[in-house]
Amino acid sequence: LATGSSPLGLYKKMIESYQKDQVSYKNTEVLNLDEYIGLSEQDPNKYSHFLHHHLLDHADFSKDNIDLIMAKQGNVQEECQRYHNLLISNPVDIQILGLGSNCHIGFNEPGTNFDSQTHIVKLKEDTRKNNARFFSSLDQVPKEAITVGIRDIMSAQHILLVASGKQKAEAVKRMLEEDICTDCPASILRVHKSVTIILDEEAASLLKKERGELC
Ligand code: F6R
Repeated sequence: LATGSSPLGLYKKMIESYQKDQVSYKNTEVLNLDEYIGLSEQDPNKYSHFLHHHLLDHADFSKDNIDLIMAKQGNVQEECQRYHNLLISNPVDIQILGLGSNCHIGFNEPGTNFDSQTHIVKLKEDTRKNNARFFSSLDQVPKEAITVGIRDIMSAQHILLVASGKQKAEAVKRMLEEDICTDCPASILRVHKSVTIILDEEAASLLKKERGELC
């Protein structure tokens, strides 16, 4: 699962489907993408809290099937190794992604090696500024995070990326039209065999016309 604003509509629909008895998540195993480093266990900005609040606590997910990255305080290096092993022994069926306005996926910032696995990252200033809306000030936004790597993301059977709003239009264009390169981490998704990208009109607004019409 991804955190942030982008998948909120999807999570709402998932909860609705459960409430209407259309689907059960009791056998769904849940891992997530990333987590800030340095927040206290109770901090509501922790991604583990966010996912419980916006999805996991509102449907029949079993707590034995949920293993969120850094949900508990601990040694970050060890957590990288633990999550790496977990991803190897539990291949991901569907990976949900948002898109950073600098084209990051997970917290794999521009410049990240496409071969990366779970690792610690220094967040770019533009990422911290974008995420400051969730905190009382920019100073409160952590400078580091732990993220699954691009290779981990690309190992999923299916990828579903959601992006909306004008502020994502440039990143969407770069993801789909720029040369595939580490400056634009999301561009690597173009070589994945099964990716679904859901955009609203604003996020799709800078795409070449023929692709825009397809959207
Ligand atoms: C969050 C994550 C990030 C976000 C991205 C977009 O778990 O992995 O890549 O998906 O920063 O964030 P929003 O959706 O808040 O615009």
